[in-house]
Amino acid sequence: MNFNYANELILREKKLELANGRKEETWYLFHNHIFGAAEVARAIAEAAGMDTNRAYFSALLHDIGKIREGFDRRFHGVIGYEMLKDENEDIARACLVHTFPFNRLESFEHYRKIFFDKKEDYDLLADYIRSHPLNDYDLLVQMADGLANAYGLVTIEERVDEYARRHGIEPPQSMLCSMYELKDYFDRKIGRDVYSLFNRISTKDVFIGYPAPQAKMQKERIA
Ligand SMILES: [Fe+2]
Repeated sequence: MNFNYANELILREKKLELANGRKEETWYLFHNHIFGAAEVARAIAEAAGMDTNRAYFSALLHDIGKIREGFDRRFHGVIGYEMLKDENEDIARACLVHTFPFNRLESFEHYRKIFFDKKEDYDLLADYIRSHPLNDYDLLVQMADGLANAYGLVTIEERVDEYARRHGIEPPQSMLCSMYELKDYFDRKIGRDVYSLFNRISTKDVFIGYPAPQAKMQKERIA
């Protein structure tokens, strides 16, 4: 995978989003999350001795199906998987399995309407998980997804806060516990606190939309 190819895919989705009425100035919500996740995944991969290229692009494209999710009423993980499976199976896989930490999947009924409109999407994910044992790249993208929001690199608590404010619902408690477990896994794997990598990551030119993303988020929280 190379940057131009990945960026073209992202810009194609942006065009689709703008054509469907989204305002250019709110694109940062998506942009900052995926580019932030990519940076943090690369930093963790480097500290863990994993393939940084695979980590970066898996995290960068993990939500590539998100834009079409609302139009197609399908689970974005499956859309992303289908978009990328012929190009790069590793990255397609990251799209499919990034949403549920440790691939802990509850029943279709449990997730109905929150994540899945269609049972066939749930079945595809469940079958895939059964036949593809979890690997460290799956876990890494699940972790990175929880450490970047629309404003920058954040703690799990900040990510959950923002999620709750934007969607009006708290994520399930079991998911939150799994996020802490994920962080513990990577803290051990790299021999230090994952959060300590944040100040090594240069986010200059990564985040767009607000000159001081964290300040903006804090202001919103106070308000
Ligand atoms: Fe995400």
